[in-house]
Amino acid sequence: MRAVNERMELPGGLVLRPWETTDAPAVQEAFAEPGMERQADAPVGSVSDAVLWIRRRQDQWGLGAAFGFAVADASGTALGGVAVSSLDHRHATGWISYWTGSVARGRGVATLGCRALADWCFTELDLFRLELGHRTNNPASCRVALASGFAAEGVQRQKLAYDGVRYDVETHARLATDPVR
Ligand SMILES: CC(C)(COP(=O)(O)OP(=O)(O)OC[C@H]1O[C@@H](n2cnc3c(N)ncnc32)[C@H](O)[C@@H]1OP(=O)(O)O)[C@@H](O)C(=O)NCCC(=O)NCCS
Repeated sequence: MRAVNERMELPGGLVLRPWETTDAPAVQEAFAEPGMERQADAPVGSVSDAVLWIRRRQDQWGLGAAFGFAVADASGTALGGVAVSSLDHRHATGWISYWTGSVARGRGVATLGCRALADWCFTELDLFRLELGHRTNNPASCRVALASGFAAEGVQRQKLAYDGVRYDVETHARLATDPVR
């Protein structure tokens, strides 16, 4: 894979950058919040689990399989994460995900991070179509998707199952040719 820009300055002093091992305490704290375990590919119950979580992001980055960024504040503290995965270079598509630590929510961190990641995917990875999905009972995630330029495309009925309950998922997508707002 060609070299890509790894660091972006965002409004409000925020920075999008790859995960670093020193982010482990912030990652562990974020994943300790109720509901956040659904965002992780393996339990993150301790700082050493968080180090392993970060190493997996770094390994995926090295393989070009997925690109996970921390959204950090001006002091370097990771407030949340955005990622593109499920890359399909034949069709130029990718899957976007995002989360924010509970203390940093409601300040535009996920929206700014998601917008910047989408731009990065179009320019650095030459992707054309970015997709994401959120449970229909997650209105904050829907707001982030719409504010980041991802149009709603439809509802997948009862797609996800957590603790014996099935959830509808609304899918969104943003195309490289969509007008920038
Ligand atoms: C969803 C999540 C990423 C939002 O992060 P954030 O940094 O707070 O997002 P932002 O501040 O950029 O935007 C949040 C938007 O949701 C809105 N919002 C927050 N809670 C809401 C609620 N209960 N109902 C409706 N809207 C809500 C905010 O008003 C804001 O919209 P606005 O900009 O139009 O006012 C965060 O809550 C999170 O990490 N949740 C757990 C993980 C998750 O659900 N990830 C997405 C999986 S699809």
